[in-house]
Amino acid sequence: KIEASIKINDKSYPRDPNYTNVTPSIIDHVNRSLHKKPNHPVNILRDLIEKKLNSVDNSFTTYNDFSPVVSTFENFDSLGFPADHPGRSKSDTYYINDKTLLRTHTSAHEMECYSKINSTGKPGFLISADVYRRDEIDRTHYPVFHQMEGCRVWKGRSIEQMKQDLNILQQHLDKHEMNLIVEDQSLNNKSPSENPKQQYMTDEEVSLVSQHLKRSLELVISEVFNQKIKSMKRENNTTQEIPNELKLRWVNAYFPWTAPSWEIEVWWNNDWLELCGCGITQQQVILNSGFEKDSTVSWAFGLGLDRIAMLLFEIPDIRLLWSKDERFISQFKDGEINTFKPYSRYPGSIRDVAFWLPGTTESEEIHENDLMEIVRDNAGPLVESVKLIDRFQNPKTGKKSLCYRINYQSMDRNITNEEVNEIQKNVENELVEKYDVTLR
Ligand code: PHE
Repeated sequence: KIEASIKINDKSYPRDPNYTNVTPSIIDHVNRSLHKKPNHPVNILRDLIEKKLNSVDNSFTTYNDFSPVVSTFENFDSLGFPADHPGRSKSDTYYINDKTLLRTHTSAHEMECYSKINSTGKPGFLISADVYRRDEIDRTHYPVFHQMEGCRVWKGRSIEQMKQDLNILQQHLDKHEMNLIVEDQSLNNKSPSENPKQQYMTDEEVSLVSQHLKRSLELVISEVFNQKIKSMKRENNTTQEIPNELKLRWVNAYFPWTAPSWEIEVWWNNDWLELCGCGITQQQVILNSGFEKDSTVSWAFGLGLDRIAMLLFEIPDIRLLWSKDERFISQFKDGEINTFKPYSRYPGSIRDVAFWLPGTTESEEIHENDLMEIVRDNAGPLVESVKLIDRFQNPKTGKKSLCYRINYQSMDRNITNEEVNEIQKNVENELVEKYDVTLR
């Protein structure tokens, strides 16, 4: 039975048959707040970054308690997302109704926090929170994860202040133990029109503010990876090679609410890993928060905490972060980076589901995230991965057939065959009911 409204944190929101796609298993994650859970890897990482950034000149107010329910205005419009931006689509975002959703990023709170700058007395803020995105199911993807947003403003645009702030930051970076090798690919940008500066800012301001942004993130990353390297040396049991320097690179990026925009990547385990998107905040965002025109410049970054935590603590499956098993949580301690010691896992159970799509055209296909959601909704935390293993089109009829392989496995207990069969049957029934497929 479908209720007419959805209750989250004691507040009721009306359903909208055209929009509502948030499910009970997703709502169950609201208030788990791993970023505030003592001795949890995500909390340890958040704390480490907050402390490092505030060690420089104590300029950031921290916000860690925002509710995940936000308006489409906060999540998209206030940030200048165009009407047709793919991030708005129902296949990517959990909507409560047409105007309300579960935030897809911590940037949803930029407007509110910018507007509080004057009353906090600090020129910056950090926001950590759980964010929600519809996505595939595997060891590195989970529909709920955590981000930290950081912003820093210069009201009055004093060049002297910017220079002074940059100077202090540079001193912290210079005396940091970590040996950094930074390549800035954005500096040899051949077509600056693709990553333009904002009209109202001078070249000198863009240069100073972007240096302050880049050096701030380099400091954070130096600190985080230095802690990791120290822990590897202390534990002395890693199979990984222990690096004695850290390679970073800056690349150009695009976000609707920053210009110019960049991403920073780190070389780790023989691969470039994307850590963080950032840029100089578009004036419009600041104006939306009540600042006067041309009065203020600011930078912003958004950093994904879960992937970095998995790397630091060597956690092989993102679902472990959500585990309530004592064997997981007892391994970690606030302020420390300890390598995760695997414990015996409960066995998995594989099922395939194969079906014909009802029609032959593209519009009659099922969005993969919709299929993922059906599995997730029926299996809850018992699904490890869902993979497309076969796709076939009958050359005569044009009919398409898909086969997905589902691995059911619990992090916390043994699951029975009967239980898995039951879930699988419900998944199949829902596919037939909702998408009119024919099971094979
Ligand atoms: N919100 C962006 C994301 O989810 C990251 C970002 C934050 C980029 C702030 C620029 C400025 O990926």
